[in-house]
Amino acid sequence: MAPANLAAAPGRVNLIGEHIDYHRLAVLPIALDRRVTVEFHERGDNTIRASSLGYGEREFEWTEDLQRAPKGDWENYLRAAARAITGKWGVGRGIEARVSSDLPAAAGLSSSSALIVAFSLALLKANGREASFADLMEILPEGEQFVGTRGGGMDHAASLASRAGCASWIEFDPIAVRHVPIPRDWRFLIAHSLTTAEKSGAARDEYNARRAAGTAALSRLGAKSYREALDPGLAKGLTDRHEHDSFLHVVTESLRVRQAVAAMEAADAGTFGKLLLESHASLRDRLKVSSPALDRLVDCAMESGAMGARLTGAGFGGCAVVFAGEGDVAAVRDGLVARYYVERAEFDPLAHLIDAHASDGALGKSASR
Ligand code: GLA
Repeated sequence: MAPANLAAAPGRVNLIGEHIDYHRLAVLPIALDRRVTVEFHERGDNTIRASSLGYGEREFEWTEDLQRAPKGDWENYLRAAARAITGKWGVGRGIEARVSSDLPAAAGLSSSSALIVAFSLALLKANGREASFADLMEILPEGEQFVGTRGGGMDHAASLASRAGCASWIEFDPIAVRHVPIPRDWRFLIAHSLTTAEKSGAARDEYNARRAAGTAALSRLGAKSYREALDPGLAKGLTDRHEHDSFLHVVTESLRVRQAVAAMEAADAGTFGKLLLESHASLRDRLKVSSPALDRLVDCAMESGAMGARLTGAGFGGCAVVFAGEGDVAAVRDGLVARYYVERAEFDPLAHLIDAHASDGALGKSASR
């Protein structure tokens, strides 16, 4: 048999800009050097068959109108990829695929988007289709809705278009990624709270409720987009507490992203760290998406010598991102183990306390604005 083809897509960790991408406001993630990999052979017919060590084997026909597999089944991610492609390019040839991943699932590191991105790239390659970053951003965030979640596009953009050594400053409308070099002596750790946030379960309803409150606040103010409402003073006009607090989170978080980009460009670690802490406080107190475990983790990081830390991803469990100087990162790691992980038997340093190296996205150097 001919050697297998490969498609791979990294996970991401968001440095700052949380719960604002779905309001079309800019965010600042990095792609990780951990990824979902799809090894595949193209087939002569339209059958898609995929196996994964942890999740088993699945097979279905790629047809015009793919329906959902049972809720919670990983086949839905494969179907979502095929469906997204069908909408733009029609049905194609199937593949015989083996899927593997070194990304922890349900940790806020975007393993589900990475799977959809990698599987879509495999199907496109098998069918000789060249897709641009803009093409993929048109179909993939929308396509993930098939699995029941509709994030804001940050995950797919970061997974596709990031660049090694840089943070991705992602703007929407129109989609654009600017690569901001990370100062050489800045380090980021991803620390798992050891509590998980299954995106398809209760966390999804909570996520959607935050999105709805932010959208309701905007229409109450008579504004068409958050871009034209980026003034914390406008919150005075909101009497509903949820709407008021959601609005304030979104607007202040967007301002923090801009300040964080400026701090990164100026290699101002003190300001960058402070912004991460302010982001966490806003997510905890206004949007209420943190948890006692995540709050504790952030405190432990700061007590261990970090310059900043915050929950990352949707929240309700999952991971914190921890920012430290090159000279302090070993002590921060040890401190987290001694303060947070010591009494938690399930702790596995390779899976739960990860060095986040900013890596290239799936499209490599060719990814553009
Ligand atoms: C999830 C979504 C993202 C984003 C974050 C919160 O990870 O997939 O699009 O909304 O939550 O910032």
